[in-house]
Amino acid sequence: MLAHEGSQTSGAGHIPVLLQDVIRLTAPQPGEHVIDCTLGAGGYAEAFLAATAPDGQLLGLDLDAALLTRTRARLAPYGARAQLVHGSFAALASIAKVFPTPSIVVADLGLSSVALDNPERGFSFLQDGPLDMRMDQSKGETAADLIRTVSVAQLEHILKTYGEEPHSHTLAHAIVAAAQRQPLTRTAQLVAVIDGAYRAILHAPAGRKLWLGRGIHPATRTFQALRIAVNGELEALEAMLPQAFDLLKPGGRLAIVSFHSLEDRIVKQFMKQLCVRCTCPPEQLQCTCSRIPRATSVTHKAVQASPEEIAVNPRSRSAKLRIVKKT
Ligand SMILES: C[S@@+](CC[C@H](N)C(=O)[O-])C[C@H]1O[C@@H](n2cnc3c(N)ncnc32)[C@H](O)[C@@H]1O
Repeated sequence: MLAHEGSQTSGAGHIPVLLQDVIRLTAPQPGEHVIDCTLGAGGYAEAFLAATAPDGQLLGLDLDAALLTRTRARLAPYGARAQLVHGSFAALASIAKVFPTPSIVVADLGLSSVALDNPERGFSFLQDGPLDMRMDQSKGETAADLIRTVSVAQLEHILKTYGEEPHSHTLAHAIVAAAQRQPLTRTAQLVAVIDGAYRAILHAPAGRKLWLGRGIHPATRTFQALRIAVNGELEALEAMLPQAFDLLKPGGRLAIVSFHSLEDRIVKQFMKQLCVRCTCPPEQLQCTCSRIPRATSVTHKAVQASPEEIAVNPRSRSAKLRIVKKT
């Protein structure tokens, strides 16, 4: 499933997704310590700080330095109870070294609406801006750099794997060919190339706005794929999960909110491994491994937003929350 941009842009800052469920199911207690791996605008962080008052501490991480500055101001009233760090959750263990053992680690993956709504960040296919897409603008390759240097085969792989784009081959050809004629440095240029390629595929005349089934913009999958590639999002998630779980104290809760099937698959698989009861071969009638599961599942099935939440915050439509509790 895709995270649709059309539904992500609220224009009113970031509305935290599944917040009530996260708080209810992780059940923070006064004095507990919490790590928020994806601080964003601080909606989750503020709720955890309130629930762990008077002396619970929170460590918040984010890759986005500009957003971190805003959120620092929002959380200033909590003083030393909130420690905020610019960094990636891929390096969670080393960042959290000086923080007390947490009872809760939470990650609300993806992008904040604050970044998405800012055309200068290059995440939006609905607004023109530089083709950047880096969550951490202090380093690394932009989407424009990637498109300039990528081969057709590499781009096809990115679009197919990270965007589940059914026309990855045609789009990769069209994008690389366009970039060879003239560097693609703006989001509008990339959108125009994708639009042209899709019109050729669908034999759609120029002019009328082109939307695919269920209101999907033709650029949705390409933008998702490039963003995931530029930020190494899946690799970071895979690196973070075991570190987060190891940091937790016994009885601690790990809560992850994901927004597309690629992320959710990684989270689901990781949590399933933790909760496995028996590893004996299936043909063996009696268990001899006596395995003690490392965790129990709190959510069993992924928790999804209610119709009421989706009506208020359409971005929540694709969110899935999974939680395990450390044995
Ligand atoms: C969906 S927002 C979180 C919103 C937050 N829960 C709130 O209530 O405001 C996700 C945030 O995670 C950050 N992020 C994404 N990948 C990250 C990573 N590897 N390390 C740290 N932060 C990351 C993004 O910059 C973004 O601000």
